[in-house]
Formats: sequence, structure tokens, C-alpha cells
Amino acid sequence: MAQLPVMENPWKLELINTSDGSHTIRLAGADEQYHSINGALQESLHVFINAGLDEVIDDFQPLHILEVGLGTGLNALLTAQNSIKKNKVVYYDAIEPFPLDNELIKGLNYTTLFNDTLISQAFDLIHHAGNEQYSNLQHLFYIRCFQQRIQELHLQSEKYHLVYFDAFGPDTQPEMWTEEIFTRISSSMKPGAIVATYCAKGAVRRAMKSAGLKVEKLPGPPGKREITRAVKM
Ligand SMILES: C[S@@+](CC[C@H](N)C(=O)[O-])C[C@H]1O[C@@H](n2cnc3c(N)ncnc32)[C@H](O)[C@@H]1O
Repeated sequence: MAQLPVMENPWKLELINTSDGSHTIRLAGADEQYHSINGALQESLHVFINAGLDEVIDDFQPLHILEVGLGTGLNALLTAQNSIKKNKVVYYDAIEPFPLDNELIKGLNYTTLFNDTLISQAFDLIHHAGNEQYSNLQHLFYIRCFQQRIQELHLQSEKYHLVYFDAFGPDTQPEMWTEEIFTRISSSMKPGAIVATYCAKGAVRRAMKSAGLKVEKLPGPPGKREITRAVKM
């Protein structure tokens, strides 16, 4: 499939600092960021790596991951870091209808936080990934990125072991947190696969349950009481 033309980002974006020193991006004029202002790196590690990747990385080879909302690429970067450190093959399918422009990407301080050439290479790879073929780092971390909204993307059934669901919050994007979207996601997951998300709203958990997922609440990162992890039965 050919790369689709890039859709215009409906939001005005600005780079900001978060409490742990890592950057994130704010939607100007809205109370919404790409990550928690209490620590972007801390949140990504807590919600997606510790409660998601760590649960499955030793069990499946190769491991197939879907991310809804690639954004800054921080979750992908931390996943690449783990894949290489643990010598595990990961196939990462990212969805991002509104890729960040180069100036914002260059401004992000994630590679300087790690000061590791491999992390810098992973960051470049992630932000240059196309949708037709996987790009890879050390034949361990493979990534491709679909520049489409999840609503319009055909997802292969029973493919993924792990889903990072990282859309903007339900107040900003209510259309993303519906039974319909979670049913599409659930169909793309293998039985026993996990979906990890930062959102723990009751309505979101109910939408996940209606989509056939078994939902559990976990303690959240600093500034957030709970997060959600769900398993496909
Ligand atoms: C909370 S931010 C993403 C954070 C990201 N995972 C990161 O680490 O930077 C939400 C992301 O979802 C993307 N998005 C918005 N609408 C979407 C849709 N319909 N389908 C998939 N992704 C969408 C946004 O462009 C944005 O990058």
C-alpha cells in the first residue's frame, strides 16, 4: 500500500518540560499533553513498559506490538531499548495520523537523557518508519508506522501480543475510547494478549469490558491514582 498524504494536524503543538526532566508536547489552548506533566519518561515506563512490555517480552518470540498514537515515539524508543538490551525480537506497528513536524522532533530531549548511540539510532529509525516495510535496528527491533486514523486502518486479526493504547484522553478524543474501537483492537489481539493504557475512567473500563476484554486496575505513576491493563480472553 502506498504512503497516504499526511493529514494536517488539527492541534497547535508546543514542547514543554515535565517534572522528571523529560520533554512532552502540549496541545496549546487545551488541558492536554502527549504525556503526564508529572514526568513523561516516568509515565511511559510505568504504564507501557512495566505494566505491559515486561509482562510479555520473555514469553513470545517474535513479539508483536501495536501502538495507537506514536506521537513523540517515547514508548517505541523505550521498547527498542528493551528489545536490544534483552536480545528479543520485536515487531512494532505504530499508528500515527498526525506525525510531528521535524522541528518538534529535533527539540525532544529523549536521546540526551540516555546518551547512548543506539538510542539515538532508534529515535531516528522510529521517526523515519514507513508503512510498507519494517525498518530495523540490529535485526531485533522492527518498526513500521501507518499514517492513518485507527478508525480507517485494517488491522490483521489475532496478530498482537501487546497493545499500547495511548490516544489523547476521553475529554479531548471521546471517539477513541469507545466499545467500537476496543472491539477492533480486541480482534487484532491474540488470546491472552494485553492492552495497556494510562486511562482508568469507569466509562473506558466498561467499553473495554463490552469489547470482551478482562480489565484490571493497577496503581498509577506519580500524579495518577490508577491505570488500566486489560487481557483478551
Ligand atoms: C497522547 S498522544 C501520544 C503519545 C505517544 N504515544 C508518545 O509517546 O508521544 C496521542 C497520539 O494519538 C494520535 N492520534 C490522534 N487521533 C488518532 C487516531 N484517530 N488514530 C490513531 N492515533 C491518533 C495523536 O496524533 C497523538 O500522537
